[in-house]
Amino acid sequence: MSEHVEGRIGRRTHNAGALRAGNAGETVLLQGWVHAIRDAGGVMFILLRDRHGLTQVTLDETAPEAAWEVARRVRLEWVVEVEGVVARRAEAAVNPDMPTGEIEVRPTRLAVLSASRPLPFTPGTQAPVSEQVRLQHRYIDLRRPELQRNLLIRHRAAQAARRYLDRLGFLEIETPVLTRSTPEGARDYLVPSRVHPGEWFALPQSPQIFKQILMVAGCDRYFQIVKCFRDEDLRADRQPEFTQIDIEMSFADRDAVMAVAEGLARHVWREVLGVELEPFAVLSYAEAMRRFGVDKPDLRFGLELAELDWGATGFRVVRGALDAGGIAKAMVVPGAAGDTSRKTLDAWTEFARRYGLGGLLWGKVKEGDAWSGPLGKVEAELRAGIPGVSPGDLVLVAAGPAAAVNAGLGNLRNHVARERGLVPEGVFRFAWVVDFPAFEWDEEAGRWVALHHPFTAPKPEHVALLGTGREAEVLSDAYDLVCNGYEVAGGSVRIHDGEVQRKVFAALGMDAEEARARFGFLLDALASGAPPHGGIAAGFDRWVMLLAGTDNIRDVIAFPKTTTAQDLMAGAPAPVDPEQLAELHVRNTV
Ligand code: AMO
Repeated sequence: MSEHVEGRIGRRTHNAGALRAGNAGETVLLQGWVHAIRDAGGVMFILLRDRHGLTQVTLDETAPEAAWEVARRVRLEWVVEVEGVVARRAEAAVNPDMPTGEIEVRPTRLAVLSASRPLPFTPGTQAPVSEQVRLQHRYIDLRRPELQRNLLIRHRAAQAARRYLDRLGFLEIETPVLTRSTPEGARDYLVPSRVHPGEWFALPQSPQIFKQILMVAGCDRYFQIVKCFRDEDLRADRQPEFTQIDIEMSFADRDAVMAVAEGLARHVWREVLGVELEPFAVLSYAEAMRRFGVDKPDLRFGLELAELDWGATGFRVVRGALDAGGIAKAMVVPGAAGDTSRKTLDAWTEFARRYGLGGLLWGKVKEGDAWSGPLGKVEAELRAGIPGVSPGDLVLVAAGPAAAVNAGLGNLRNHVARERGLVPEGVFRFAWVVDFPAFEWDEEAGRWVALHHPFTAPKPEHVALLGTGREAEVLSDAYDLVCNGYEVAGGSVRIHDGEVQRKVFAALGMDAEEARARFGFLLDALASGAPPHGGIAAGFDRWVMLLAGTDNIRDVIAFPKTTTAQDLMAGAPAPVDPEQLAELHVRNTV
């Protein structure tokens, strides 16, 4: 048994990435895909590929005629079997970029195991292929070494996470996929019940309620690597169906949960990349917003924002914004005065406008007090208050409502850093963001909504503020983990006191009846001897994105959805038979 686990399985003696100079003279049997074919007239090279690598198979006049016949017939992506002898390549033919580049296999037998229909593209092609075509034929695209590598990284990360959490006494427990609406705040994917006409299951946006109930059930430490479903607008780091490493702990405070999650990240990075992570910074939400304008700051570069005390300026645009209750902030781009064109400044202004800013003021700093650009019109003594400005710098200022200024400059900060090459490669800057506001005002709904979810504990010293009209000041015991500008985990200490929970529901405009209707079973459980507990969920796909060095979440998911939430390979979603709908008591209205 152990031989099969560690070594040879089936007829293959080696995989396509295994052979080295030391194997010269051995008779081997390889199986795999035809990655490339080169006919050099009298000599033919076939590159054999599997997920482990590439091996060159070389036919010359010494190869049997039967092998030549097959070699002339095979096409790219056919599956073949090669039996032959490993030979060292001539010095000039050694390929140092290929792990198997010192050898080639001289076939004594070549056989076709499976032919391929003509394909719209091949994994070895250099020609550009649209993502749509790649996703339609995902099984071809997944053969690419880059995507195979990503799947391997994902596997290793999942195994490392399991080992780490198992060692700390966490139990892996599955929770239902057919359940009822959970409180994460996105739209639900719904599944009609055939047995109960008019009633629906919801796919879980997270296992939040179940993991809390597992704490009430005495499970002490839970984890699950679990699919979550959210019908929300998609982005490069968001999928409608994504995976969390979901964790919940009993008798644990905020620091205990953060220590487990930090240890988990350290362990995964060490096991998968061999990287020792730097100490994790801890920032309050307020500090993150003040210095970076966003709650998931990228700490790999500077370009920090500075709030400006420009209430006394005669400069109309800024004064108007401040008088209207807004703020003004500056971002200094070191050394950018010389090489930032008007066109670039216009493009940056357009970029910032997308976040609700009216515009962007700029100034190029010359020697002494002299500035060119719109900021040149601002009083010199006010400009002197912008920290860290030197001649040759470019200064950008935004003024307006705080939300727009922070979002506009905060996102522009990432954009400018990328454009100017200020983002170091292969660096991971993790940080905790803590002390989030418990509630945020929902303009549309005209009421407070939970920033995390309604079971997040307010900081104990802020509980007294509930119900006093000072909801905006209430901070919660919630924490997010961020890395390189991504939110990579989020969690909180939970409310385990019925009275506090009732007050939070009230702050959210939810009366006892509505709370019972939505979460009654959780409330009953929490009133049945609930241990103090807290937890966190890591966005596993985003961890793998970082580990794999890609900024596209679809690169790390075997069968991802498009940005319009479709599976192009399976053709989902798709219409179903009217009979199926009738059975489910559902009628199509389109
Ligand atoms: P939250 O909603 O913050 O918390 O989700 C946890 C983490 O999951 C990742 N994430 C996503 N990744 C890809 N696609 C998406 N659509 C997506 N949405 C979220 C993020 C995020 O930090 N139940 C709580 C956790 C808790 O309180 O314990 C929860 O789900 O990296």
